[in-house]
Amino acid sequence: MSIQESIRVRFEQDIAVLEMDLVGEKVNKLSTPVMKRFHEALEQVKVSSAKVLVIKSLKPKIFVAGADIEEIKNLVTPEDFEKAVKGGQDIFNFLEDLPQITIASIHGACAGGGCELILACDYRIASEDSSTRIGLPETQLGIIPGFGGCVRLPRVVGLQAALDVILAGKLLNAKKAKKTGLVDKLVHPGILAEVTMSWARELAKTGAKRRKVYTPVGIVNQILEGSLGRGVVFNKAKAEVLKKTHGHYPAPLHAIEVIKKTYGQSDREAALKIEREHFCQVGVTAVSKNLIHVFYLTEMVKKQTGVSNAMIKAKEVKSVGVLGAGTMGGGIAYIGADKGLNMRIKDLNFEALGKAYKHASDLWLKLLKKKVIDKYQYKQKLDLVSGGLDYAGFKTLDVAIEAIVEDMNIKKKVIGETAKNMRADAIIATNTSSLSVTEMAEGHPRPEFFVGMHFFNPVDKMPLVEVIKGPKTSEETVVTIFELSKKMGKMPVVVKDGPGFLVNRLLIPYLNEAVFLFQEGMDIKTLDDYYVKTFGMPMGPLALMDEVGLDVGIKVVKIFKKAFGDRIEIPEVMEKIEKTGRLGKKNGKGFYQYTSDGKRLEADPGIYAELGMKSPTNPYGEKECLERGIFSMINECTEALNEDRIVETPHEVDLAMIMGTGFPPFRGGLCKYSDSIGSLNIANALEEYAVQRKAKRLKPLKALDQMAKTQRSFYY
Ligand SMILES: NC(=O)c1ccc[n+]([C@@H]2O[C@H](COP(=O)([O-])OP(=O)(O)OC[C@H]3O[C@@H](n4cnc5c(N)ncnc54)[C@H](O)[C@@H]3O)[C@@H](O)[C@H]2O)c1
Repeated sequence: MSIQESIRVRFEQDIAVLEMDLVGEKVNKLSTPVMKRFHEALEQVKVSSAKVLVIKSLKPKIFVAGADIEEIKNLVTPEDFEKAVKGGQDIFNFLEDLPQITIASIHGACAGGGCELILACDYRIASEDSSTRIGLPETQLGIIPGFGGCVRLPRVVGLQAALDVILAGKLLNAKKAKKTGLVDKLVHPGILAEVTMSWARELAKTGAKRRKVYTPVGIVNQILEGSLGRGVVFNKAKAEVLKKTHGHYPAPLHAIEVIKKTYGQSDREAALKIEREHFCQVGVTAVSKNLIHVFYLTEMVKKQTGVSNAMIKAKEVKSVGVLGAGTMGGGIAYIGADKGLNMRIKDLNFEALGKAYKHASDLWLKLLKKKVIDKYQYKQKLDLVSGGLDYAGFKTLDVAIEAIVEDMNIKKKVIGETAKNMRADAIIATNTSSLSVTEMAEGHPRPEFFVGMHFFNPVDKMPLVEVIKGPKTSEETVVTIFELSKKMGKMPVVVKDGPGFLVNRLLIPYLNEAVFLFQEGMDIKTLDDYYVKTFGMPMGPLALMDEVGLDVGIKVVKIFKKAFGDRIEIPEVMEKIEKTGRLGKKNGKGFYQYTSDGKRLEADPGIYAELGMKSPTNPYGEKECLERGIFSMINECTEALNEDRIVETPHEVDLAMIMGTGFPPFRGGLCKYSDSIGSLNIANALEEYAVQRKAKRLKPLKALDQMAKTQRSFYY
């Protein structure tokens, strides 16, 4: 099928209708050949007698998804970027300069290049549908809008709204897009085509070409749009970006620069040239390449099923039971009902059920307040959650997720009991974080229907689910739980059973090393700041220990010691912490101090004396502090991936570490980061630390040694 078929123009009297429907693709995307064909179609319109041009998509839920990311990925030099961006800009200038009045009729996702396309039109009408989402997500990929988005958006919606859209890189729903001024009209999807055509006919008769220019309403907006006010707006935007990113993400800063230099500039070519120059600078960065890598990781999950055999299909899941209405059970019930699943919770007491119900209700109330959902949806979601103290209703459920106390014997007993109260083909999944799924399966009379489904805390925020396949778990069970995780809005990764599965297995040596560094005299804040500000972790390792619970941390390190021997050494100070009753955030006393409602304050200065330690002397610099922690994770990763095959590929490690621990996406994930340093350098550094600090645990593992000797990396 030719590209010719993908973009076609038809004429209805005075109106030209350009329809996009990329042949053989699920979405419309603006690759170079598509842009070329789009240009030809515009040329055809230009020389026609049409007075109005309507641009629309024939895809069911997509207007234009954006530029072709595969093409961006393959651009290397600034010259490559310049050529690609200039080509796009010229075509959208051509669209803007058409003698015809232009209307974009938008239904479905309209992102990146798609949004830049509609910005080059005179008018924009959109369907009021949940699939209609419009915006410029380029900064999420480490680049900036380069087909005129940085230049045109502020002119259409004003400076502040444009900065909000471009810097956050998030798409606006139809209502928000209308409120912001990004679209002129909003109609029900069922009448979008008719209303667009009727508007086009009206404009053909009476209308003139009109380029919308934002005019500020109200004194405050007028001041902020003025030359003095703009300075304030730009400074504030820059400060906010730096606060959030610690300077690790250059794209938003470049976008601010472009808008600052071009806003109000009447020479279009000069403005677009500035946009191109900045695009070329960000496009070539490793950060952008890494963020594109992360984008592909998330796309990979969308296509996967959890097993290699494509013939195995997921069973339909409509109703899910949750055993245990605590921290995790409450969160699981919320996300399930939020996505339209019937959630039935069982606990031992009403108090816990009440708390879970309130937890879900509070989260939806927040969405209601923000107008993300309406009252009807709020009620509908709430109605999907029910609870009880017995197994009433369990016979009708497709899956039950167990989230009760972390005790093997109790879990086995409850799993057996639950199986008796469910259909024979119902699946039971355990949310255990540290127990063996293989052993727990002994509690189930039909272990092929038993699997691990490890969510992360807080469930509504953390995207990862580890799907743990036990030796007897059937492939159909894996596929069904993999699909269910996606349905619940999560990113599943299939992992093999083993201590800590994947994420905690890599995280524990890292957290443990941070405690050693603390024990050796590093100040809590200094150490955590290295990880947050310099490395880009969302939270320092000691703050994370507090979140997890110091009691839980110690328990898990001991389990690991049993499993891995010398590879795990327990810092003396950890044993002492256990005795002081410091549990971390949950009792307001850990490495940090907390307010009564759990907000983290300063590091606790009293902890050193209480543990019989001297005041911190910070004996090591940033390099050693970071390398000992991060390289410990990498060391363990070589063994987990190459020897134990906990997951199959470095892609899964990277996805899991980003989605499960917040490992900085701009570094591309743990394996990508490791490759950027080199296995030999990592092994040498660890070898040196092991000697200098008399720390056996830091010695390179066999798998890392092998990688280093053969100069192998994870990806190549
Ligand atoms: N909290 C976390 O950060 C986290 C993260 C991932 C996984 N997990 C795992 O999730 C599970 C639950 O952890 P949590 O933090 O939600 O615990 P929690 O203590 O907050 O909640 C456990 C709930 O289970 C209930 N319960 C106990 N026995 C029960 C039974 N026989 N039937 C029904 N309900 C019963 C309790 O009344 C309580 O409400 C554990 O296996 C834990 O390892 C916890």
